[in-house]
Formats: sequence, structure tokens, C-alpha cells
Amino acid sequence: MSKISIAIDGPSAAGKSTIAKRVASALNYVYIDTGAMYRCVAYHVDKHHVDFDDEEKVVALLESCHIELKQDGGVFLNGEDVRHEIRHDRISKGASRVSRYEKVREFLVAKQRLMAKDGGVILDGRDIGSVVLPDAQLKIYQVASVETRAQRRYQENLARGLACDYEQIKQDIIQRDEQDMHREHSPLKKADDAILLDTSFLTIEEVTDKVLALAKTKEQEK
Ligand code: DC
Repeated sequence: MSKISIAIDGPSAAGKSTIAKRVASALNYVYIDTGAMYRCVAYHVDKHHVDFDDEEKVVALLESCHIELKQDGGVFLNGEDVRHEIRHDRISKGASRVSRYEKVREFLVAKQRLMAKDGGVILDGRDIGSVVLPDAQLKIYQVASVETRAQRRYQENLARGLACDYEQIKQDIIQRDEQDMHREHSPLKKADDAILLDTSFLTIEEVTDKVLALAKTKEQEK
């Protein structure tokens, strides 16, 4: 039995990271939150007062963007832990904007492949199964209805003490889906060989168990 690579893709707020973290911990795998990396770029851009829509300036900032992900959830940007800052609404929107640029994607995809090269990894994002790790042994495409996702994000924000409005969250999710699915480079889409998992009516434990069972089967096959 050997370690495999697992890709979890899907739209915003579908619960990918919750599942990926649990599966990683159960299998003793490394979890790589690729969305956090796009968020770091957006945070860096914002910090330099550059407009998210100014492609040239955004791309120029990449060389001064050093990102490190820690297994305890730490997200370090040039040595500063920004794990909380990158979750703010402004940065969520910015991440979706800057992720449209080909150069930004190339920059982060190269890092992601390097981080995943030894296997025993679980990555979540939008293009993992389709672009980053097309040979991943297990690909999941995790979805949930817009209402379920908005409700989950709303509860999450409440628990974090962040200001939130359900309708606004729902509209933001719809807008990000639209952007992520229709951009020119690596749009969000289900890889042909990904397993579709609709979590609208499943608990976190049920989804985790399903993914774990699939992963164990793939580990045995390898
Ligand atoms: O998963 P997330 O919500 O933290 O991702 C933030 C944004 O980054 C999302 O709107 C789209 C982009 N993203 C991407 O384009 N490709 C990935 N692999 C991960 C995230």
C-alpha cells in the first residue's frame, strides 16, 4: 500500500478545505490549500495599493511574493502569518480577480507541483485535477447548492466573529462562481475522471468517510 495524490476541486465554499484537512489528518498526508496561495497574492497586491485589475502591476509583484504553508494552518507571506487576513471578503474577491492571470497561475502551479512531488498529499482548489496534478490517483469534484454554501459560509463567519450578511454572502458566491468558471485560463471545471460529490445533504463526517474510503481503495491499488 503506498501513498497517493488526492485532488479536491469545486466551487467556493463547497467545504473542500474542511474535508481535505480531515482526510489529510486521517491518512497522515500533507494538506495543501492552493486557494490560500491565490489569496496571498491578492493580499500582497492590496498591501501595495495595486488594483486587482491591473494585470501588469499584479504580475510584477509576484517576484516579491514568498508564500509558505505550514501544516498547523499557518500561511506565511514574506514571513508574516496572514492566515486570518486572507479570509476577509475584500481578499476573497481579489483572489478570484488575480487568479485570472496566466502568469499568476503559472507562478503558483509551479510551486504547487513542487510541494506535491513526493505524493502523500491532498490539494484543494479549482484546477488541481485538471491542470496541477492531472495524474492524481483520486480526483473529487465537490459541489453543494448555492444556498447550502452561503449558509455554511454565513455560520463560519459568525463563529469567527466576522461581520456578515447572508444575502451578500450568497451574491458574492454567485459572482465568484461566475468568474472562476468563465475565466480564460484554467477555469473551474470537473476533470473527466473526477468523482462528483454533492455534499448539499451530507454531514462533514459522511463526506469525510466517503473520501477516505475512496482514498484507501486507491492506496491499495497503487
Ligand atoms: O478556495 P478559495 O476560496 O480560498 O480560493 C480563492 C480564489 O482563488 C478562488 O476564487 C479562485 C482562486 N483559485 C484558483 O483559481 N485556483 C485554485 N487552485 C485555487 C483557488
